Amino acid sequence: MFETDLTDVEQSAFTGGLPGEERLEALVAGALRRYADLDEGQVADYIPVLAAADPRWFGVALVAVDGSTYAAGEVARTFSIQSISKAFVFALVCEAIGHEDVHEQVGVNNTGLPFNSVMAVELNRGSPMNSMVNAGALATTALMPGATPAEQWENIRTGLSRFAGRALELDGAVYHSEILTNQRNKAIARLLESYGRFDMDPLDAVDIYTRQCSLAVNATDLAVMGATLADGGVNPRTGEQVVSAEVARDTLALLASCGLYERSGEWLFEIGLPAKSGVSGGIVAVSPGKGGLATFSPRLDTAGNSVRGQRACAYLSRALGLNLFASAAHPAARTTKENR
Ligand code: DON
Repeated sequence: MFETDLTDVEQSAFTGGLPGEERLEALVAGALRRYADLDEGQVADYIPVLAAADPRWFGVALVAVDGSTYAAGEVARTFSIQSISKAFVFALVCEAIGHEDVHEQVGVNNTGLPFNSVMAVELNRGSPMNSMVNAGALATTALMPGATPAEQWENIRTGLSRFAGRALELDGAVYHSEILTNQRNKAIARLLESYGRFDMDPLDAVDIYTRQCSLAVNATDLAVMGATLADGGVNPRTGEQVVSAEVARDTLALLASCGLYERSGEWLFEIGLPAKSGVSGGIVAVSPGKGGLATFSPRLDTAGNSVRGQRACAYLSRALGLNLFASAAHPAARTTKENR
């Protein structure tokens, strides 16, 4: 924790804005058109049911913090949220138990290793490292309040539904397919247990985590969920304060450093936005104060990130000036220099 001692000053953020409706519509449609024929990458098959996805599916949705929505392609087709759930469960757990406890009990540093790495746990002497990799996500899910695993699961389902602004339901086929084949996640949970990292039965935590990954969403849901994080924790469609502005900020900081796993550096370098990906092909990127951008396309790169989704996000980040690290010289400074 870095104490800032800002008791007498209000914390604020510079946000800027998005262009008008027509331009947004054209750019979102353009992002889809530009990359629709890109056929690099493979559909995930380590969860057997995911292999049935049609590699041609592609949708792009943008929801601004005023609730306006811009969409192109298959934005209504549902798919399992997978790892994108980790971002929102992290936010709910932070809201429930606080920034310091999550920092201390899970961590906020990138592993530099794949999302399901066992070695990352060993190399870090049992630290799950961060809530975006499977080890840290299992540890985070276990911290979700609830008297029983069923209650913890229900709190996650309703919490993620508040982010989406509609009741999200479990995709039973995905859940059953994954729970029968996720020996690796069970092994990671047992390994964490051996380091004394669980206060609950680790296999119950795996079960809840598998359910959260199996929630069915579409690209528009993801864009609304992202827009909620962009909007100080307020869902721009329902007006509900889902998490505090501080928790939304902390979640975005973690997404910037860990959201695309070992490719997070490349993503930030190219796109400059906090984001989270999932193996069924979703990506949600967040532009603080502006909106949430979501893509769905099942072809993945070797780190498990949607290939077309990354390209579409890069295009829109540039076209809309969303990169958090971009700046233009102040006009006054430019004039002074020119007059010298
Ligand atoms: O635990 C798993 O392996 C999946 N339920 C989620 C992995 C995932 O989405 C990784 N993302 N790219």
